[in-house]
This record gives sequence, structure tokens and C-alpha cells, in this order.
Amino acid sequence: MTLILGIETSCDETAAAVVENGRTVHSSIVASQIAIHQKFGGVVPEVAARAHLQVIDAIVDEALAKAGVSLSAIDGIAITQGPGLIGALLVGIAYAKGLALASGIPLIPVNHVEAHVHGALLGLTQTTEELFPCLALVVSGGHSNIYFMKSPTEFELMAYSIDDACGESFDKVAKLFGLGYPGGPVLERLAREGDPKAIPMPRMMEQKDKLQFSYSGLKTFMVNLKNKQQLSEQDVKNAAAGFQEEALGQLVRKLETAHHLRSAQCLLVAGGVAANQRFRAMVKERLPRLPAYFPQLDYCSDNAAMIAALGYQHFAKDPKDPAFHRLDWDAFSRYQFS
Ligand code: KG4
Ligand code: ZN
Repeated sequence: MTLILGIETSCDETAAAVVENGRTVHSSIVASQIAIHQKFGGVVPEVAARAHLQVIDAIVDEALAKAGVSLSAIDGIAITQGPGLIGALLVGIAYAKGLALASGIPLIPVNHVEAHVHGALLGLTQTTEELFPCLALVVSGGHSNIYFMKSPTEFELMAYSIDDACGESFDKVAKLFGLGYPGGPVLERLAREGDPKAIPMPRMMEQKDKLQFSYSGLKTFMVNLKNKQQLSEQDVKNAAAGFQEEALGQLVRKLETAHHLRSAQCLLVAGGVAANQRFRAMVKERLPRLPAYFPQLDYCSDNAAMIAALGYQHFAKDPKDPAFHRLDWDAFSRYQFS
């Protein structure tokens, strides 16, 4: 049994978790800063970094206590190395380095976007051979990426956004309509009471073979819609439904293309947008032959269990890798952030 302590501070959640063998969560503690940033309508980087600093020690202690283990039982410390807000990342990285240095426990740097995929693997009982090769979609506030994965640590980028990320477009549209932050859940709620066909939406990136996402055109359409006319309450619900249908429809269209191009045993979907129930239904409807796994709701948005899970996979390849003991890597050099 390998126990990994994961630590995450890349954006507005301070999180720590203890995970066994990359799949079984013993504890997962998340301190969200949403209430702190809400009044600004988005995350303020400097405020985020300071808020991480205030709670990180207590959050790590709580994760260990809830798992019922002491630090000496931990085989590796996985830390989000990027991408993210640099001030926020540095708080977690400096903390984790200190912990590793003092305890002699190996330190495992983890890419946040790739780790999201492992959120979908938490709790699954299938073997690696039964799941891989697979397709993976990460749809968050910062990324809309499709990967082809030969193994749990091999991420071949197949599709990405040329402008806004999908979750970001939900946030911007919600802000435009004065609906608050984060925008995804509130737009999903409104969309349930709207007619998605009432307001025809522009179709983005329609060329089937083009594996790229774009959300700026859809956002501009919503800006014009809002500015051109007085919208009733029902109009706003219809606009939310139409927007959601196209924003998510684009993801499904590109998944269909990716599925056509690469043979995969399953699809892993992760990131904040994976919490959207309409999206879950759409994927099942439109890709009926590809088994799709979504994370439990707790593991869709940022958390440290996913960091520990991917950290485990890196560590398991070679637990004696001297890189885990050097502590000399910096926050920018090891990965190309995409
Ligand atoms: O993965 P995440 O928590 O943080 C990032 O790493 O970005 O994703 C947050 C994003 C936000 O843009 C939020 O609006 C979106 O996920 N989101 C949703 C839903 N819940 C969260 N988007 C659509 N529908 C939802 N139910
Ligand atoms: Zn994230």
C-alpha cells in the first residue's frame, strides 16, 4: 500500500488529501475561497495567495488527522507545480518543500490540469489495462483539453481552446447578466427553466475535423443579445439554456471526432464543468458506445485527492527516482503548461 499526501494551492482552493494507491481516498479537505473573492466578481491573485498562507498548515494537519495517519506513514508528498496563479502556487510549493526537507519524504511535482483527469479515476475498481488507452476531457475555468492517454501518466494533447476555456465562458456570461461567480452552477440552474431553442445560438468551430475549441464568438453573441434588447426573466432563462446547449454541444462534437480518430476503451471527464448534469446526459446520449466516467461532484472542482492520485502514478513508476529528493526544481521548468 502506498499512501500519498496531496497538496493543492493553484487557484482559490487550499486543499490537502491522503490517497491510497491513486484510487482510494482516505481524506480530502478543501478550504474554498469563493466567499472571499465573490465580491470582486473573480479571483484576485494576491488575495488568494495570502488566504492560502493563512490556512495551509491547518488543512494539511486536518487531512492527516481525518485519514488517521501521521506524517511518518506517508510515502510521498504530491504538490501542484502549475499551471496556476504564481503567488498561490508558491505558497503550496514552499510549504511542501519544507515538509519534504524536514521529513525526508519524497516530493512529487504534479501538473494541475493533468491531475484533474485522475479525479475521474478516484474510486474506480477497474484495472489500468481495462481503462487505458482512453480519451480524457478536462473542462475547467482555465482549460478545455482533450487528451489521448496510453497510460495514466501519458497525456497527448489532441484538442484545446484557441481563446476562452469552456468554464470561463460560463463565468463571463454569468457576470454579464449579473448572476454572480462562479457562473457554471447558476447558469445550469437557470437553463433548466429555459427553452434552448428559443434563441438560435451561433455554432462555433463547426468543422468536424478541426480539433480546437473556441468560446469567444458565443460570448460576443451573448454580449450583443444583452445590449440590444430588454430581456424578460424568461428570455434570460432561454438565453442561459441556449448558451449552455451550444457551449456543451461543442465539447461533445469534438469528443465525437476524437473518438473517431483514436481507439479508446473509455472516456474520462474532469474539471468543474464535469459537474454539469446536462453535460453528463449529453455525453451518454451522443457517445453511447464509449463508457464515460465522471468524478464524484467533490472531485470535479479543485481538490488535492486528484493531485495525490496523479502523484502516486508518477511515484509508482520509480519510487527511487532521485528527482523526488532533489528539491531543486522550480515552478516553471519541468512542464510545458498547456
Ligand atoms: O476545475 P475548476 O473548479 O477550477 C479550475 O481549475 O478552473 O473549474 C471551475 C469552473 C468554473 O469556470 C465554473 O463556472 C465551472 O467550472 N463550473 C461549471 C459548473 N460547475 C462549475 N460549469 C458548468 N456547469 C456547472 N454545473
Ligand atoms: Zn482545476
